[in-house]
Parts: sequence; structure tokens; C-alpha cells
Amino acid sequence: MSYIEEIKKGVVKSDAVIMGIETSCDETAVAIIKNGREILGDEIISSAIEHSKFGGVVPEIASRGHTAAILTATENALKSAGLTLNDIDAFAVTEGAGLLGALLVGVSFAKSLAYATGKPLVPVSHIKGHISASYLADKSLEPPFITILASGGHTAIIKVKSYYEIEVLGSTLDDAVGEAFDKVARVLGLKYPGGPNIEKLAKEGKNIIPLPKMLKNYEGSKYDFSYSGLKTAVINYVHQKEQKGEEINKADIACSFQCAAIDVLVEKALLAVKESGYKTVAVSGGVGANGYLREKLTLECKKKKIKLILPEKRYCTDNGAMIGAEGYLQYLKGNFADLSLNAKAVLPLK
Ligand code: KG4
Ligand code: ZN
Repeated sequence: MSYIEEIKKGVVKSDAVIMGIETSCDETAVAIIKNGREILGDEIISSAIEHSKFGGVVPEIASRGHTAAILTATENALKSAGLTLNDIDAFAVTEGAGLLGALLVGVSFAKSLAYATGKPLVPVSHIKGHISASYLADKSLEPPFITILASGGHTAIIKVKSYYEIEVLGSTLDDAVGEAFDKVARVLGLKYPGGPNIEKLAKEGKNIIPLPKMLKNYEGSKYDFSYSGLKTAVINYVHQKEQKGEEINKADIACSFQCAAIDVLVEKALLAVKESGYKTVAVSGGVGANGYLREKLTLECKKKKIKLILPEKRYCTDNGAMIGAEGYLQYLKGNFADLSLNAKAVLPLK
């Protein structure tokens, strides 16, 4: 009997404790989740400081960081939950999308835990994990709802029709919103990760620099985005000022960029709520940690009587808890992988 057949023999139970392991970028994150809703233990060890010297994530440094941190992260997560490996019913791990070498560390580690304990190995999509962070933020949340997915690699407005069925209403045609934050930050001389640093600087500035409206005459989905034009407009503005020897007000640039980048996300998400007839909107992905986005959505949702799900900032950026939450849903379906599971740099959203 194969490993999977062996495991499936009556193992799946609705009351389950899942370990979520996430290593797709620069966070080594492990969490212990009960029934997909409750965080029992949670550890995140980031190598961001090491990347900040280089202005962006260096894949090899990220992989080495995971190798050094993964055991400590796992032990700390178990310790904070007051559990041991024997208490874990399944090991969920991000299989993609992300940096291949970084993903391989988590996938190999999860495989070894599954093999040693004889428990199921559950492969999880990083993006679905981000979406499922909302189930941790509100324990009574049930689909359907609209989610804004805004991370370093993805930007989309998504209809979450059920726990297992999503529909992407629109997505970015080029750069992701987080990527634009990181690139604009670099032009302004701010360190990686750019998002939080732009947010900080924007607080001292005003939204007074005119920037182009996104996809003005575009004929595709009204829910699509394009951040490359906005990013280029900011870069050109800075370079032209420098060439003329004029001073630039970095805080005003940060604030104007942040407003342009975020306003369109909020606008399209609210339109999706209206058109779908859904009553709830959720936020997912690292840019969801942005204070301006959170304030603006809170205000708009209050005005329009829409229920807003705002995961804590820690669970917007990469974390193991979201992988445990999504892992639980996949576990219930018996979506197990065998020990030949491999990491995938690209994993389409379906
Ligand atoms: O979801 P995430 O942690 O990793 C990916 O899956 O990409 O998102 C990381 C992105 C980075 O581009 C980072 O600059 C951005 O999220 N980010 C923010 C903030 N915190 C993180 N962007 C704007 N404001 C923030 N406070
Ligand atoms: Zn992410």
C-alpha cells in the first residue's frame, strides 16, 4: 500500500491540528492551527534585514536563511502551542508560487516531518493561503466574499465563491502593487521592504503630485490593474527633477504614489462587492498591511454597510498560519501529496 493510501485509511477527521510551513520568500514561518480557525502557535523568522543591503530579496540568501531558521521556527511554534510533533495531524506546506530554492527548503522539511511521523503531507498554494488568512481573522466568516489580493507578486480582485472555488475578476497586467511599492522605494533611496518605508514617509507628505490614471482607455476587464505606468511616471518625475537640479519632496512623492496605488484597489474592490451582491470584502497579501489602505477601506465599508475582514498586519504579510488555515481545507478534502512533492516557482490561481 502506498504512503497516501496508508494515510487516507480513515485518517481525515474534522477536528484536526495542522502545522503550516511557509518559505516562499524571505520569511521562514511555521504555525500550528486548530480546525483551520484557531492559531495555537506561530513563529516568523525574517531574513529581510540581510536583503535590505541589496535593495531587494536575494534568492540564495533567502534559501540559506530558511535552512538556518526552519528548525528553530518549528520548535518555537510547537513550544508556544504547548504541543509536540505527535500532536500534529498533518503537515501543510507552501508548494508554490515563490522563489524555487526558498520553497524547496520548506517542502523538503515538511516531507521529512510527514515521513517521520507517518502523517499526511498537504501541498498549499501560497496565494490561496493569503486568502484563507481571513478565516483566522474572523472565525465566523463564510464564503462568499470578495477579496483584494495585494502582495509583492500578485494583485487581483477575487470572488471567493466557496471554500474551494474562486474566480479572478481581474488582475495586474504587469507589475504587482507590492512590487511597485518596492521599486518606487528604491528610487527614493528607501530600504527594502519598500512598502512599510513608503507608508512611513507618506505620513509626512501631501498628495499633490499629479500621477497618471490607471488603464484609462483600456478595453479589458474593469477589474484589471497596471502598475508599471504608475511606477515609471514616478521614476520619470524624480529623474526629470534631478536633471533640472530641482529639489524633490520625497514625502510628497511617497504620499502621491501611495494614494494612486491604493485608491484604485479600494475602488475596484467596492465595485466588485456592489456588482456581485456579496456583503463582505476581505484583504489579503502584504500590501494589506498598509495603514492608508486599511483606514480608507474601513471608512468606505462603514459608509456602505459592507462587512470588512482585515487580518492583523502580521497575517497579511507572509506567515505560516495562513498556510495552516488553507492546509486544513485541503486536508478535509484529502488533498495529500506523496513524498515526490516538488516546489513550483509558478502556480496558476484556480
Ligand atoms: O504577501 P507578501 O508578504 O509576500 C508576497 O507574497 O509577495 O507581500 C510583500 C509585499 C512587498 O512588496 C512589501 O513591500 C509589501 O508587501 N508591503 C507593504 C506594506 N507591508 C508590506 N506595502 C505597502 N504598505 C505596507 N505597510
Ligand atoms: Zn505572500
